[in-house]
Amino acid sequence: MSLVKMSALLDKIEDNSYAVGSFNVSNMEMVMGAIKAAEDLHSPIILQISEGRLPYSPLALLGPIMVAGAKNAAVPVAVHLDHGVTMETIQLALDLGFTSVMFDGSKRTVEENIAMTKVVKKMAAVYDADIEAEIGRIGGSEGTYSADELITTVEEAKYFADATGTDALAVAIGTVHGHYREKPDLHIERLREIASVVSCPLVLHGGSGISDADFRRCIRGGIRKINIATSSYDAVARHIYDRAQEDRHASYFDFSAAAAKGTYENVKRHMLVFGTENKVK
Ligand code: 13P
Repeated sequence: MSLVKMSALLDKIEDNSYAVGSFNVSNMEMVMGAIKAAEDLHSPIILQISEGRLPYSPLALLGPIMVAGAKNAAVPVAVHLDHGVTMETIQLALDLGFTSVMFDGSKRTVEENIAMTKVVKKMAAVYDADIEAEIGRIGGSEGTYSADELITTVEEAKYFADATGTDALAVAIGTVHGHYREKPDLHIERLREIASVVSCPLVLHGGSGISDADFRRCIRGGIRKINIATSSYDAVARHIYDRAQEDRHASYFDFSAAAAKGTYENVKRHMLVFGTENKVK
């Protein structure tokens, strides 16, 4: 099945019945665990790495592993750069064969964000790759803002999507990256309004810690891509820790298997909620 474009997975979801999970990975074991979950469930998947994690996992090393994992998979896999902020990293991801790149201009003014997103769209077009962009501010690693600043408005979402021609749009509807300090208050009505005027697929960031019921409400409201990072990292750490507790002579290879298994279980759990099981014929 192999490496595909993000749009090939997202554009066909027209009835708000499911969303494709986009799972952050940081090493080969996480790539293997995530792809195995997709294969076992006959599910499409997006693998992604965020620019902020590159100090731990250099793109020039991990990127080729992600692309090779996709090409060898029995299901369709898109390979995506998450939260690209520098043009150098975006260019490298495209050179390595990523099928989509995100430009995160959320810390810039709307006009700057539009101008830079258009540059990224042109860069990606050379490779026939897709782009994702963001309007509004998702809390957590993007800083602390008041509730109103965090929520994308209908007008700005439409203006931004029309001006940039982005292939997917990340919107801020009350989720945050990382661990939730309090129960998230999701703005589903706002999401519905945005979905009714923006035709490109909408993306939910900050998926870890969202309840199954809220995931389903987001999908029915128009979300077609859901990003999951923190809960996979937590699952990997927990599996390694448990393995060490079980057997203090556990080997490197036991820990490697634990990392793949932690990712596998977390990815599978989310795919079942997102409704992608058996979407690959
Ligand atoms: P979490 O770490 O909260 O799952 O967020 C993932 C994400 O949105 C990556 O872009």
